[in-house]
Amino acid sequence: ICRFLPTKNNRRMRAIDHEIRMIMRGIIGKKERAIKNGEASSNDLLGLLLESNMQQSNGKAGQGMSIDDIIEECKLFYFAGMETTSVLLTWTLIVLSMHPEWQEQAREEVLHHFGRTTPDYEHLSRLKIVTMILYEVLRLYPPVTYLTRRTYKATELGGIKYPTGVTLILPLLFIHHDPDIWGEDASEFNPQRFADGISSAAKHPSAFFPFGGGPRICIGQNFALLEAKMALSTILQRFSFALSPSYTHAPYTVMTLQPQHGAQIRLKKI
Ligand code: HEM
Repeated sequence: ICRFLPTKNNRRMRAIDHEIRMIMRGIIGKKERAIKNGEASSNDLLGLLLESNMQQSNGKAGQGMSIDDIIEECKLFYFAGMETTSVLLTWTLIVLSMHPEWQEQAREEVLHHFGRTTPDYEHLSRLKIVTMILYEVLRLYPPVTYLTRRTYKATELGGIKYPTGVTLILPLLFIHHDPDIWGEDASEFNPQRFADGISSAAKHPSAFFPFGGGPRICIGQNFALLEAKMALSTILQRFSFALSPSYTHAPYTVMTLQPQHGAQIRLKKI
């Protein structure tokens, strides 16, 4: 109910929501016309979603997606895909600035595989140090800090009985920092713990879950890691970096885990 009160914040939220919907409708309309005129392929995400919508308008009501569904999907993919990966990359630059020895090891690995050339898919998947670093950043600074689940029927968990409709919070951030699971150095940056893969990094093989788990696990996780490796490799090839004296370490959560006062980093061309 609070959302509908005409407060300043609510009015602003509604205005933004309206603006985003108008922009999305514009993009969708343009793509629809282009597909119909044979000027664009439907071989991308928006195209596939629209194909599903067009099936619906061909009389198969109930099977396809409505335009509102498509707008929601686009919003989800934009937020789930952009914000999370960009904040992962930001934390990685911060942490590698704090740990120049790991920055150097990562750069050596990248230069060994790619030299100065553009990183390619095949070699990106062979980067071991870079992968260990990204996992360790995802452990210490998971972009998504908790997951929620609701009981859809009476459920017993760990000896406690929950009725239907209870919201459970899985505190991903706390589990990633728990010394009982990760050992005494749980709060330290130590990519070495991932040297033999994810399942042997902690006392419990599922203790690392920055992308969630089960049927709703992040659909973009491989893509996100690939993107992060590509971006990080490209930066490492060209720059060395260090924290600016104005940087203040203050992780805080606004939907995703972010550096509260920004990430002031000095880049030096190499
Ligand atoms: C470092 C980057 C990313 C992180 C840490 C991350 C994290 C997560 C997590 C924890 C969930 C599960 C939420 C839950 O179970 O309640 C999730 C779901 C999802 N993610 Fe990601 N994500 C990342 C990148 C991406 C990218 C690049 C895309 C798209 C290209 C994406 C698309 C999605 C979608 C569509 C879902 C919902 C899946 C479903 O409910 O079936 N994510 N993500």
